[in-house]
Amino acid sequence: MALLEGKIGLVTGGAQGLGAAVARLAASEGSKIVLGDVQAERGEAVAKEIAATGGEAYFLRTDVSDFADCEALVAAAIDRFGGLDWACNNAVSGAGDFGPIDTLEESNWDRTLEVCLKGVFLGMKAQLPALLERGGGSIVNVTTASAFKGEAMLSAYAAAKGGVHTLTMTGAAEYSARGIRINSVAPGGMETPAIQRYFEKFPAFKDKTVATHAMRRLGSPEEVAEPIIWLASDRASFVTGSCLVCDGGALINSHLL
Ligand SMILES: NC(=O)c1ccc[n+]([C@@H]2O[C@H](COP(=O)([O-])OP(=O)(O)OC[C@H]3O[C@@H](n4cnc5c(N)ncnc54)[C@H](O)[C@@H]3O)[C@@H](O)[C@H]2O)c1
Repeated sequence: MALLEGKIGLVTGGAQGLGAAVARLAASEGSKIVLGDVQAERGEAVAKEIAATGGEAYFLRTDVSDFADCEALVAAAIDRFGGLDWACNNAVSGAGDFGPIDTLEESNWDRTLEVCLKGVFLGMKAQLPALLERGGGSIVNVTTASAFKGEAMLSAYAAAKGGVHTLTMTGAAEYSARGIRINSVAPGGMETPAIQRYFEKFPAFKDKTVATHAMRRLGSPEEVAEPIIWLASDRASFVTGSCLVCDGGALINSHLL
C-alpha cells in the first residue's frame, strides 16, 4: 500500500523547492494535499500539475505569519477533502540575508523569526485541533542542520530553526499521548530556488557549501521529501519528538579528508 493512502495533508511553502517536492511525493503516495504559500501563481501551478497526474491537490494563498491564514489552510483541507491527517510546516523567508550579528538588520531578524519560527507555532496551533478531531495524526516541521551547530552569517535563520527544533520536541511532549506524533527533518544544502538565489549573489559560497557536506554534493528536494513523507505516514508509528537529519553529512566533520 502507498505510504499515505487515503490520507489528507497540507504543506506550507508548497509553491516551489522542498514544499513542492513534498506535495508531489505525498500525492504519488496516495495523499490528498493542500498547499499554502504566499506565491499564488506558482502554488496554483504545482496543484494543477499534481491534478494532471491524477492526484488531488488544492492551493490556497497563505502567509504563515498570519494565524487567520493558517486556520484557513486547515479549513480548506477539511472543506475540500474532509479532514486533516498530517501537516508539514516548511515555509521559509529571510534566510538569504547575510551578515554577522552586528550588521544584521533588526527588520531581517523580525521577519525571519516571524515566518520561520512563529509561522511554525501558528501552523501547529491551527493544525492541532483538526488532528485531535481526527483522533490523531502527524506533524513534520522543517528545520536545518544549522540548528545544531549555528551558522556564521545566518544568525536569525539558525536561531529560528533552533527554536523550531525545541518547539517540535515540546509539541511532541504535549500531544503524543493524544495520538499526534510531531517530528522534524533537518536538511543540509538542497538544490532549491532559495539556495540558487544565494549562490547567484555570492558565487564563492557554492564550493564552500558543497565542501561542508561529507558526500561532497548538495541534496535534491526530492531526497529530503522522502523522510518527511515517511514521518508523516503511519509507518513511523513509534517516532515522535525526534529530528531526522537528512543532510549528506553536513553535521559530521569530514574536513581532514
Ligand atoms: N535549500 C536549502 O539548502 C535548505 C537547507 C536546510 C533547510 N532548508 C529548509 O527547507 C525548507 C524549504 O526551503 P526551500 O529551499 O525549498 O526554500 P524556497 O525559498 O525555495 O521555498 C520556500 C517557499 O516558502 C514560501 N514562503 C515564504 N514566505 C512565506 C510565508 N510567509 N507564508 C507562506 N509561504 C511562504 C516561498 O514563497 C517559497 O515558495 C525551509 O524550511 C528551509 O529552511 C533548506
